[in-house]
Amino acid sequence: LRSSDGVLTVALESSSQQVNIAGRDVRAFSYNGGVPGPTLRVRAGDILNVSLRNGLTDPSNLHVHGLHVSPENNSDNMFVTVAAGDSFDYQYDLPANHPPGVYWYHPHHHGFAADQVFGGLYGAIIVEDPDPIPTSRERVLVISDITVDSSGTIVTTTAMEKMSGREGELILVNGQLSPALSAGAGERERWRVINACTSRFLRLRLDGQQLTLLGIDSGRFESARDVDEVVLAPGNRADLLVTARAGTSSLRALRYDRGASGGMMGGGTTSSADVALATFAVAGAGAGGFTAVPDQLAPRDLRSATVTARRELVFAMGMRGGMSSGMMSATINDQAFDATRIDTTVQFESVEEWTLTNTSTLDHPLHLHVWPMQIIEQDGRPVESAIWQDVVNIPARSTVRVRIAFDDFSGRTVYHCHILDHEDAGMMGIIQAL
Ligand code: C2O
Ligand code: CU
Ligand code: CU
Repeated sequence: LRSSDGVLTVALESSSQQVNIAGRDVRAFSYNGGVPGPTLRVRAGDILNVSLRNGLTDPSNLHVHGLHVSPENNSDNMFVTVAAGDSFDYQYDLPANHPPGVYWYHPHHHGFAADQVFGGLYGAIIVEDPDPIPTSRERVLVISDITVDSSGTIVTTTAMEKMSGREGELILVNGQLSPALSAGAGERERWRVINACTSRFLRLRLDGQQLTLLGIDSGRFESARDVDEVVLAPGNRADLLVTARAGTSSLRALRYDRGASGGMMGGGTTSSADVALATFAVAGAGAGGFTAVPDQLAPRDLRSATVTARRELVFAMGMRGGMSSGMMSATINDQAFDATRIDTTVQFESVEEWTLTNTSTLDHPLHLHVWPMQIIEQDGRPVESAIWQDVVNIPARSTVRVRIAFDDFSGRTVYHCHILDHEDAGMMGIIQAL
């Protein structure tokens, strides 16, 4: 679905129904009957109208992940509840200087986010380039995971799985298991890859092909870089060029160790095995002769900015009321989410430096709504590039420093761990921009 004359108006209906997933009939959650939901294509300066109908039996709402839009009123407002059977009309006004790139949408009702995303509610948003890089074709790859039993029912998650963050047994690409992609040799493709998994990190490889990374999230590298692999935490996106070379390659997610909660609950490792996600077969000559990728406009570099405020956020996990209680606590600065409390107040036009410390044995990918973060320092070492991301991983037992420019938009929104089971368990805070 593509905007025309600066407006895209879509109706999204979430429901629980039979959907064909990985070649099976699965009773899943879907937007408009599909997993993933429709891809929405807009441009900077556009208005995106989404009329959401919640056909689920639980409360829900809609979040446009990564879009730099107002968090107030009927824009990207995290405090809207759309009750079962109700509707809500969202209107997102993209500023004229909105960065192009790969974004996505998903429900975000506290307490229900993990179940609803795991169940199939997500879709891509593309903010088109003003000057598209010439390619043979573009693919949007929404990668998600799910666990389904033999009767086609989504398997419920145990308390222990929630502690480490549930990982589905099946990894899907656009709702399919191992889809076959094909191209002609010499062709150049644009791949927009979204990690829509609830907790799984994706360490992606496509051996035998040339991968060129344009950016992560809304961030752009000044010069595109050739890479062997790309690591996406839950919520991250990659904007890639693939130059097709003859032969058949496998898009794989390699083993990634995001720590263990074993110390606390007697088990539960979270390092996943290598998995093949899709095949990419290149045969015959395609249209080649693409010119080098032009340099891109890099974002402002906050390393030289004047910092107006500094804050520390400490991410911790433990058990409430002792080891045997089975009640996980997931906190930021010792507090679990409270919808009535404002945790962080920031001033308009300030540049803040946040020191993010993870005291637990699991990685926590921190996501901040509306304002992207620039990573400055990782465990005391300065970071080379000036890339801006909206999900920044804080590895187990480590510290990451980021800077954030609060240039525009006021209102209340949230930051949280994008392992959605941790978010639902309380690892979320409220930020108010004045
Ligand atoms: Cu992708 Cu607050 O979420
Ligand atoms: Cu988000
Ligand atoms: Cu977490």
